[in-house]
Amino acid sequence: MKDLERIFTSYVFFAAIALLPHVTVLSAPLDVSNVVFTPGRTESELNFAWQTRKNAVAEARVQVALKSGKTGADFPEDSARTFTGKSTDFGDGLTSHKVTVSGLTSSTGYIYRLGAGQAGEWSDVYEFSTRDGETYGVLLIGDVQIGAKNIHDDAAGWRDTLEKALLKAPDTAFILSVGDQVQTSSSQDQYDGLLSLARLKNLPFVPTIGNHDDNKLYSYHFNVPNESPTSGKTDAGGNYYFTYGNSLFMVINSNSLNYGRHETFIRDAVRKHRDAGWRIVMMHHSIYGADTPRPATLDLRKNFGSIFDKYGIEVVLAGHDHIYIRTRFMRKNQVVRPLEEFSARSTPPAEIPAGAVIKPGGVLYITAATSSGSKYYDPASQFFDYLAERASPYVPMFSQINITNTSFEIISYRTDNMAVVDGFVMVKAAEEGGPGSTVVVLLAAIAVLGAAAAFIFTRRGYFLK
Ligand SMILES: [Fe+2]
Repeated sequence: MKDLERIFTSYVFFAAIALLPHVTVLSAPLDVSNVVFTPGRTESELNFAWQTRKNAVAEARVQVALKSGKTGADFPEDSARTFTGKSTDFGDGLTSHKVTVSGLTSSTGYIYRLGAGQAGEWSDVYEFSTRDGETYGVLLIGDVQIGAKNIHDDAAGWRDTLEKALLKAPDTAFILSVGDQVQTSSSQDQYDGLLSLARLKNLPFVPTIGNHDDNKLYSYHFNVPNESPTSGKTDAGGNYYFTYGNSLFMVINSNSLNYGRHETFIRDAVRKHRDAGWRIVMMHHSIYGADTPRPATLDLRKNFGSIFDKYGIEVVLAGHDHIYIRTRFMRKNQVVRPLEEFSARSTPPAEIPAGAVIKPGGVLYITAATSSGSKYYDPASQFFDYLAERASPYVPMFSQINITNTSFEIISYRTDNMAVVDGFVMVKAAEEGGPGSTVVVLLAAIAVLGAAAAFIFTRRGYFLK
């Protein structure tokens, strides 16, 4: 019997040795944290950022595949595209990774995974869906400011708001955050709270540098497109812009008071995208708010206001005040009345939503309330003339913004009972003789003159040898 046992044990031992080369060791997925991505330069790009505790021994990688191409449990590596980027060690054993993914098509589901460190190491698989830039919705969130109360409660409030917002608007193209994402600009723990939401692995997040964010640490968490090395430049970063559909989004770092450089940035972005249907600015500091303005705010109002007027900015989204407001249309610090009807030189949009206001010239300013509930402020007793709406319900809020080529709608909610606090929609006509058509007319004129000159010179034999 003992002999039988010995033979069996030996058999098992040698069988195990023989099988060893064929055994696949199941390694744990790469541990990644603070995954967040931002729209790229256009809607066909996305800018990814994430962190690991691996040193940057190999370049950062994102592998993207069509969601429809995943049939089994494995990531469809053969049909995937791999994009590489940059890794930066930034202290406490943490490494920041940034990669731009391009060539995305609209209204498509994708899966992706993140790589860093040793080749072949990949994170878990996540997914996102692109939207259609013709007609799309975004979410506006204000001062999440993780850590203003405490990280746990503030992150829970932020998560609750985003969940409710995405129930209301499941097809959201991206999230606009108007700054003060954290309370303490040097706190990695607060960023961990901000970016701990699993939802942020599924849709783009557009950050703005607030006064509480102005630290180099900010730049290790976000990967933004077209970032200016000079305009709006502070420790956290500079101004940046992107296009989506026919809209131009310009994100201003209002911690910088170098108005000349802000103007250069806006002028260049607007010139590069003359045909943009909506020119939208995001900045943290509200220049029209519900509180009695301080001298610094009046200074911002004067300087930024004149730049926005000059370059035809249509909407400015801000935060900082923790009180929701929507202004009337403003130009030269004066209220502009909405148009009663379209002018004889303009073409009304095919469909005009019920209750829509016809947009005159002038800028619409919107200030978002806090979306986490981390901190509230009281409005002034006075309801200023420039205000169309003001709300301070002392509960977290968010807004849903729906954009088409000709209409801009904002619906703002309080999250305790999901009541609509503000609803507003404006439409605009395609102006005949607008900037785009001016260019076409000029090019046509140059072409006609060139053809006439060529005809005359040819007749006179200038081109004949
Ligand atoms: Fe602020």
